[in-house]
Amino acid sequence: MTEAFEPKNVIVTGGAGFIGSNFIHWVVENQPGVHVTVLDKLTYAGNLENLAGIPEDRMDFVHGDICDAALLDELVPGHDAIVHFAAESHNDNSIANPEPFIKTNVEGTFRLLEAVRKYDVRFHHISTDEVYGDLALDEPRKFQPDDPYEPSSPYSSSKASSDLLVRAWVRTYGVRATISNCSNNYGPRQHVEKFIPRQITNILCGIRPKLYGDGKNVRDWIHTEDHSSAVWEILTRGRIGETYLIGADGERSNIDVLRAILHEMGHAEDDFDWVRDRPGHDRRYAIDATKLRDELGWEPAHTDFSDGLRQTIAWYTENRSWWEGVKSATEQKYAKQGQ
Ligand code: NAD
Ligand code: DAU
Repeated sequence: MTEAFEPKNVIVTGGAGFIGSNFIHWVVENQPGVHVTVLDKLTYAGNLENLAGIPEDRMDFVHGDICDAALLDELVPGHDAIVHFAAESHNDNSIANPEPFIKTNVEGTFRLLEAVRKYDVRFHHISTDEVYGDLALDEPRKFQPDDPYEPSSPYSSSKASSDLLVRAWVRTYGVRATISNCSNNYGPRQHVEKFIPRQITNILCGIRPKLYGDGKNVRDWIHTEDHSSAVWEILTRGRIGETYLIGADGERSNIDVLRAILHEMGHAEDDFDWVRDRPGHDRRYAIDATKLRDELGWEPAHTDFSDGLRQTIAWYTENRSWWEGVKSATEQKYAKQGQ
């Protein structure tokens, strides 16, 4: 068995967003002695409040863009790893305006790869199961790490492009990198544009939840804390150049998830609106995480989705000030798209 890599000084890009901030909280709680430098542009999706409570001696925050090569030249030396979460992350936004997705997800990853090549820093690239396209509802197959890339949306094709850059930088330049492709995350601090928080906050605001298409699309839900623990295992014990799929066997149709939210929040299960479908809407995602489980011994801690959903509903109910300021603008944007 190879020795574990033990990073002490880690840059986390996109650390003020949903998954990045949850990862930082997880590292601070579970990995004493690790210092984090957050690099975040604070786009509409970044929020410094997400990092409240992190002790000053465990974290520095740098407000900046991953596309800024000069900034990376200043920042990267002296760190022993970069965990790269920063991205434009929302499919619907990518359909309305793809340009920032190409800039941040493709060029930004390229800039980071050039920096880790120059300064010989370990790199972990956070990606998505959407790079593999979608599965039919009735096929037993799940995504495998070596499946061909067949992304459907501007978002997923930009993430697929970034993954291919990472693979090429490993092979051509010997950069020490790994990639993880994770399924749909849920949990606290997710932007209200995304499915689960949108429906919870709609109900809290007296707006009817909105379901796309026929509601039968399937997503493979994982609690964001389980994503964090998996990323740490891969960063410290994963094999360089490898791709690991992260998922927790959480397949559910959108309509089932929505009905569970409605039920939990005391509403009738048909108390929602059907709205225009997403163009090119992927039908089903499903992850086979055997490699991660067998090779690194990773197991998810949150195996009860109903329980995780209840905690998530409680978080949005108790933290209205976190989302109220952006809710109406988000809904106005959706209304213009007929969604
Ligand atoms: P998010 O939209 O909540 O957060 C993205 C963060 O990146 C924000 O803090 C934003 O300010 C920052 N950012 C954006 N552009 C930047 C730039 N040019 N320079 C520096 N910072 C920038 O996203 P998320 O849902 O937390 O996703 C994080 C990562 O995980 C992404 O790479 C995404 O593709 C991937 N992922 C997400 C999911 C999911 O379910 N949300 C699942 C699998 C993989
Ligand atoms: O699979 C991983 C991906 O999961 C990540 O790479 C993305 O960053 C993340 O946003 C997520 O993508 P999805 O497009 O699957 O997530 P979203 O929350 O936008 O939608 C989940 C499902 O719910 C999808 O089938 C569309 C549907 N939906 C979404 C919204 C916002 C609705 O039916 N109604 C809605 O209001």
